[in-house]
Amino acid sequence: MIKNVEIRQALPADAPAIEALYPAAFPDEDLVPLVRDLQELAAISFVGLANNGLVAHAAFTPCSLAGRGDNVALLGPVAVAPDRQRQGIGSALLRAGLRHLQNAGTGWVFVLGDPGYYGCLGFKPDDDVRPPYRLPEEWRGAWQSLSLSEHKTPLRDQLTVPQAWRRQALWTPYGL
Ligand SMILES: CC(C)(COP(=O)(O)OP(=O)(O)OC[C@H]1O[C@@H](n2cnc3c(N)ncnc32)[C@H](O)[C@@H]1OP(=O)(O)O)[C@@H](O)C(=O)NCCC(=O)NCCS
Repeated sequence: MIKNVEIRQALPADAPAIEALYPAAFPDEDLVPLVRDLQELAAISFVGLANNGLVAHAAFTPCSLAGRGDNVALLGPVAVAPDRQRQGIGSALLRAGLRHLQNAGTGWVFVLGDPGYYGCLGFKPDDDVRPPYRLPEEWRGAWQSLSLSEHKTPLRDQLTVPQAWRRQALWTPYGL
């Protein structure tokens, strides 16, 4: 645990603070509509709290492969308050979320993001499972997966995401 930071699953009452966090962490991108949609979807969300304020959030959306019932999830978005970044809070939040998913039987987690960051958590570029939208060739390494199961049966096919994620603009990696 990071000193003086409590990490727990998000509660409905956290919604206003979560929505206030995103414009601060992503000043050039409006992720609030996605975050709202994910709250309605009951995505699995984790928050970091310090001095009674919310300083971090991460969401995991249950998904499937080509419409089958595989137990897989999509990670994102993730945000840490600008004045609390690079203090280990994001990593601690994601590790807590991944442990939770693993205990709940999720087999694989996918993410589109900076491999320099997600690689530290064990994510590896994935060429076998396709993202819902085609990515530019130079961004292929940003599509990554992490197996949470001991039986790492390789997966194939396309990730099927719920409506909240079916907007092409969300699949343009930002800040790579
Ligand atoms: C990216 C983000 C979630 C990481 O959370 P964090 O709490 O700041 O990161 P941590 O302290 O847990 O991780 C530390 C390490 O991760 C790496 N890292 C952190 N932020 C990084 C970034 N934006 N890009 C690449 N590597 C990064 C670094 O190696 C860092 O170690 P260092 O400070 O010793 O160099 C957070 O910085 C953030 O919200 N940034 C703005 C929004 C964003 O880009 N979200 C991610 C979308 S993919």
